[in-house]
Formats: sequence, C-alpha cells, structure tokens
Amino acid sequence: MIEAQEDIKMTTVAVVGQGYVGLPVSMGAVRAGCTVIGIDIDTARVERLRAGDSFIEDVSSGELSDALASGRYTATSDWSGIGAFDVCVITVPTPLRQGAPDLTYVEESGRAIAPHIKPGATIILESTTYPGTTDQLLLPILEAGSGLSAGKDFFLGYSPERIDPGNQTFGLANTPKVVSGIDKESLARVRQFYDLFVEQTVPVSSTRTAEMTKLLENTFRHVNIALVNEIATVSRDLGVDVWEAIDAAGSKPFGFMRFTPGPGVGGHCLPIDPSYLLWQVRQTSRGDIRMIAAANDINDHMPDYVVARLQAGLNRRRLAVNGAKVLVLGLAYKKNVGDIRESPALTVLQQLQALGADVRVAEPFTEDAQMPRGVLRAEADADGLAWADAAVLLTDHDQFDYDLLSTSETYVLDTRNRCAGPQVELL
Ligand SMILES: NC(=O)c1ccc[n+]([C@@H]2O[C@H](COP(=O)([O-])OP(=O)(O)OC[C@H]3O[C@@H](n4cnc5c(N)ncnc54)[C@H](O)[C@@H]3O)[C@@H](O)[C@H]2O)c1
Repeated sequence: MIEAQEDIKMTTVAVVGQGYVGLPVSMGAVRAGCTVIGIDIDTARVERLRAGDSFIEDVSSGELSDALASGRYTATSDWSGIGAFDVCVITVPTPLRQGAPDLTYVEESGRAIAPHIKPGATIILESTTYPGTTDQLLLPILEAGSGLSAGKDFFLGYSPERIDPGNQTFGLANTPKVVSGIDKESLARVRQFYDLFVEQTVPVSSTRTAEMTKLLENTFRHVNIALVNEIATVSRDLGVDVWEAIDAAGSKPFGFMRFTPGPGVGGHCLPIDPSYLLWQVRQTSRGDIRMIAAANDINDHMPDYVVARLQAGLNRRRLAVNGAKVLVLGLAYKKNVGDIRESPALTVLQQLQALGADVRVAEPFTEDAQMPRGVLRAEADADGLAWADAAVLLTDHDQFDYDLLSTSETYVLDTRNRCAGPQVELL
C-alpha cells in the first residue's frame, strides 16, 4: 500500500510508443529533469531516434540529440531494458479496423508493461479511445500481469493528447492538459507528473470523462468541417462564393467559429476518433450519434466532389481526365507537415489514376519511404505547371508559390482558397 504523497518519485519515466505523441512527451519529461526510456516495437524508428534523427516536425533533431547526449533519454525495442519506472505513459496507435476500434496495441502494451510494474508506479494511457478503455480494458490487464492492485499498489490514469503537429503557437507545454485517474490518489499522481512540464493541467473526475473529452473535441471539429464542406458543395450552384460567406460570418464576435472546407479530413484523429464514439454507443446502448454518421458520410465524399469538379473543369477546356496530365499539390493531410496517414489527397490521387490521368505529386514534406508506391514526384514550379493540363491544390503548404499558381496559364483547382487568377477555380 502506498502512503504519503511526499514520497512520490517521478524521476524515471517509460514512454511506450515513440511516435507523434510519444516522442514529444518523452522530450517534455527529459526537459523536466526525468530520465526517460522510450520504447517502440518499430526497430527502424528506434535506430533513427538513437542516431538523433527526429522524424516529426515538433521535435527537432537538435533537441533529440541533446536529450541523448544528456544520458537522460534512450530509445529501445527491448522490454528487458525498461527497468523500474516511476511513471509509464502509453502512446500507442488506436486505429479503426472495418469501422471498429482496434485496441490490440493498447492491450499488447499493457501485457508488456505489467510484469515491470513496481509498487508505487503510475501508469497513464494517452492514446485516444472510447470511454471505459482505461478502467475496463487496461486495468484488468495490468492487474493480471503484475499481481498488483490498481489504486492500492499502483496508480492508473488517462490523459488525452492534444498535440497539433506543425502548430507554431501551441505545443505540449502551453496547451492545457486534461488529467484523470481511476481514484483521487491516481489523479493526484497523474497531475503531478504533467505539472512537471505542462503549464496547466485540467483535472476531471474520472478516466471516462477524460476519454470522452478528447472524443468530444475531435467530434466537434469533424462535424463543423462537414458542415462547411456541405455548404461549400451547394454554394456554387446558388451562385455564392462560400469563402467570402465564411469570412463575413467570421466577423461575428460571438456565436460563430470559423471552419473552412477542403478535400476531406485526414490524419490520425478526425477520420477515426468520432467513429470510436459512434461504435461504442451503438455497441453498448440502443442509441446512435447521427451527427457523426452524417459527418463521416459528407467528409468521406469530399474527394469524390473534388475529382468531379476537376473533371468538369477539364471538360470545359475540352479535355478528358483520361490521359490528362494532373499535378497534385500536397498529399499530406494538413499543411506544413509530411504525415499522409488517412489523407483525403490519397483518395483523390487514386481516383484520378483510376480515371486514367497521368498524375504527378508535389509534396515537399513527405519522405520517399512514406510515399505511396509508384507515385511520380514533381516540383510545384513553373516547369511542373507548364507540364500539367491541370493542377489541384489539396494541401496548402506555406512553401508553395501562390503567386506563381495564381498567374499560371494552367488550370488550377484550389481547394484551400490560397490562389486567385484567371485560370483558378475555388472549391
Ligand atoms: N498524431 C496526432 O496528432 C495525435 C494527436 C492526439 C492524439 N493522438 C493519439 O495518440 C495515439 C498515438 O498516435 P501517434 O500519432 O503518436 O501514433 P504513431 O504511429 O506516430 O506512434 C505510435 C508508436 O507506437 C509504436 N507501438 C505500437 N505498439 C507498440 C507496443 N506494443 N510497444 C511499443 N511501441 C508500440 C509504433 O511502432 C509507433 O511508433 C493514438 O491513439 C492517436 O489517436 C495522436
């Protein structure tokens, strides 16, 4: 049984999963003076980390190298090296498989961690998931594998990650962090850990509330993006410039929040997280969340709409998609990052290829190894545009030359409202 709070030690931290979420958490804990062991089953990723080569925008290779040189950060795939941690943070993927949550990574991590739990340790799940995962799924795995009792011998909590890759204003340290525990003592320990490197922690009364908070935040974005996407698809027929209407509505100082249309939603959050909630509600009650189902439907069909618009634009120029040279600008799911997971641009690319277009892709941020097989790359420069019958701007990276696109003689379909010119058509 763990007693006095003054005895809490948080110096040795294990972070399971060294991806977009786990690596920044590891660096935050190193900055706070902790000794961190980052564990990842991806041996190639671990090799890169060990070489001081960061693969994510929010952690520079310099910061990673400094952490390695300090001796307070190590990366490994070997669970035997985990040692006696005070805190263990789980940041593994939580994907969807055929519309259902796949929690096998969380389960496997739990089973791997359990034998290493020492009395007094704190385990924190950060992976996005549906309410009940921490107390119903993870807790029994940890207890069974450790022979210890949660809340008595070790502590357990949930703290959702709010990281926004590429965001220059808000990072891990200055974004308030929601914290929770399976009981009061667990909450206190989880909070104390994040207070080491996050400016503000926001405690909630249960792990389920914290799990729901994350899903609520992402469902809110997902539904609002679907709303403007649908408004965009009808505005054109009504003779309305949706972008101007959004800007005008944005002048209202209350009761309106600006969201913009685009080719769909991507990344590891919006296409997945709301469906976790939808799945759980459908499994555990007779209820439904019709807003999520509708938003999924609308956002999932935006690539079709973009392709149809491009097809119509080419048609007006007496060109068929079949055989047309199309320059795709941006494949990443959001601007200024290279992450193409779940990117709607991939669907646009596949559809154009299926229609017989000769497609080249300008994507300055995505490494070759991450690119889909067989994709031909091009530059978003004058030569790239001169080659193309049409260009479609899907991801508005700041480093694209929007003056060049605006003045180009090539037809440009701009799904992000970054260009204006005689050959430019907005979504
Ligand atoms: N990327 C984001 O912007 C973001 C933001 C908020 C929340 N999240 C959530 O955080 C979680 C992690 O996302 P991510 O983007 O960091 O994923 P990621 O794929 O970048 O990283 C996860 C890492 O976990 C490793 N891993 C998988 N199983 C493991 C195991 N059993 N032991 C050790 N390592 C293991 C993988 O090899 C991978 O390197 C997900 O639930 C995601 O929804 C992501």
